Amino acid sequence: MCGIVGYMGPKDPKDVIIHGLETLEYRGYDSAGISVLNQGKYERIRAQGKLVNLKEKLEGKSFPGGVGIGHTRWATHGAPVEKNAHPHKVYQVNIVHNGIIENNEELRVELKKQGSVFESDTDSELVAHLVHYANDGANNLYEAVIKIISKLEGAYSILVVSEEYPDQIVAFKNGPPLVIGVCDDAREVVIASDIQAIMPYTKDVVYLEDNEVAFLTGESVSYFDIEGKSLDKKVTTIKWDAEQAEKQGYEHFMLKEIYEQPRAVSAAIEPHVDALKNTVSLKNVGFGLDYDKLIEGDLTADEVAADIKSTLDTFKNLERVFIVGCGTSFYAGMVGEYYIENLAKVPVEIELASEFRYRNPIIPKDSLVIFITQSGETADTLAALRQVKSEGVKTLSICNVRRSSIDRESDGHLYMNAGVEVGVASTKAFVTSLAVLNLISISIAKAKGEISEEKESRLLMGLLEAPKHMDSVLAYSHFFSYAADTLKKFKGFLYMGRGVNYPIALEGALKMKELAYKHAEGYAAGEMKHGPLALIDEKMAIVMVAPKDALYDKTLSNLEESKARGGAIISIGTGEDEQLKKLSEHYLSLPEAHWTVNPLIEVIPLQLLSYYVADSLGNDVDRPRNLAKSVTVE
Ligand code: G6P
Repeated sequence: MCGIVGYMGPKDPKDVIIHGLETLEYRGYDSAGISVLNQGKYERIRAQGKLVNLKEKLEGKSFPGGVGIGHTRWATHGAPVEKNAHPHKVYQVNIVHNGIIENNEELRVELKKQGSVFESDTDSELVAHLVHYANDGANNLYEAVIKIISKLEGAYSILVVSEEYPDQIVAFKNGPPLVIGVCDDAREVVIASDIQAIMPYTKDVVYLEDNEVAFLTGESVSYFDIEGKSLDKKVTTIKWDAEQAEKQGYEHFMLKEIYEQPRAVSAAIEPHVDALKNTVSLKNVGFGLDYDKLIEGDLTADEVAADIKSTLDTFKNLERVFIVGCGTSFYAGMVGEYYIENLAKVPVEIELASEFRYRNPIIPKDSLVIFITQSGETADTLAALRQVKSEGVKTLSICNVRRSSIDRESDGHLYMNAGVEVGVASTKAFVTSLAVLNLISISIAKAKGEISEEKESRLLMGLLEAPKHMDSVLAYSHFFSYAADTLKKFKGFLYMGRGVNYPIALEGALKMKELAYKHAEGYAAGEMKHGPLALIDEKMAIVMVAPKDALYDKTLSNLEESKARGGAIISIGTGEDEQLKKLSEHYLSLPEAHWTVNPLIEVIPLQLLSYYVADSLGNDVDRPRNLAKSVTVE
């Protein structure tokens, strides 16, 4: 993962880089560091742990040299300690790196034979060694860096500076994103892993593609491919403003984001609802349209109408749907499987991106492959997308971050519209994905003639009520805090649900693991007797998701079986459910809703329970240990 920033211009580079790293900390927070030009030399300052530690070390320092690079790390090779923090420095050369050099071992052996002495355990440091050697005989930093690229295997992006060419930065991308913000005729340039780090300075940006190099000299930025061919890169002017993520009085971003969910769901649904007719029509999906025109909203009325038709035609002709994602996005996809199969009667296969790419999946040409990803940069999801595209199968992404790699590279585009999500454990992105999947399933069902107009309008009305129901659950958050107090003493957790509630159990267990560092498993309630019942004793808490739906009676029997074995039970059900109350230590009541809407509501108590358990244990809720929000390594 990791976040990288480079700066060249009139400002103190330290200020721009630190501000940039603040916006990138979601990519990793094991250590941070900068190398900044100071009287012809690069001064390197690094600190273990979160960025705040580096900021402390930098207090009172200023750097008038105008050039610098910085990094926030998520450890892959080597422990999260200062010696492994970036930038890595070998004599005059300083580098920051995001990604993995896969032939690290081989190259290290070779470099050691040449006399290199390594000071870190990282794969990144070898890049600095290689550039150091390549500087010999090169006329500028670009020539040195281009010489080493063919030696490196893996998916990685780097920024390189060197005291031999103090006014030059070279950026190379092969995998993780790199965006270049160019201001003042290239006299001021900011390079970063994410546009958020650039937006305060300019909205004119260039997206580096894989195997492209940018060469900054203080007066110009030149672009090349790896063969050294000069490239004429397009400058894109971003029309939207960077959203400032503020806690707005909440103790944590995650809590704020949990509370933002009802509004986020409305924002995800609204663009696709025809309020007068009470129908769904997915707009600006853009199968086959120019991406820039689409994303900047530059389509004519005719093009918008043609696009709606093209989406319906695509849906009408599809025979199979695949849904691919990782983590919370994968669980959202599982819910989507229930929606699409039930409403549209199209077979769905749900796939973990990390497995999908390596199992040579058979994807019939008349399939649609849906990729769900908050960040739009998850390495496995991106690789799966590229694989599917190379087979000529149509792809549709559901992303939160616009212009992210997966958004740009997919054929069709839908957005979560969740706003910036800072908490590493995903919340808003989950419920907004469910809202979009609801819309997709209604649209496919409509295109295939599986639902009547009346049913479409009923489903849509149910969905439009979701924010109201979610608000009503949030009004009882003090109750979840109280229930969490009972839960925090338990060592293990079993989350259970049936049908569409099963993925919600999985997501609830994931939240407990991520935030509270407790062992939690999600299970299909009907599977309990095939193993998990053996785990139940008085140290185990059971969280049962049991709304009054078609599978309610069966779920209740499963709960009785668990109760008989002694576990403490927290149950989540519909209204005043006396049966559940009787069986449970804590009963959390939800409003009555359509089965397709229940998952959006049910997940809120589960998020809050994990949040309160984690907080009361003193864990960093927004940045749980060992995790990162954007996972750009396999
Ligand atoms: C990480 C995050 C999760 C997220 C997953 C997939 O593990 O911590 O919250 O669900 O990545 O991320 P994506 O951006 O593809 O949704």
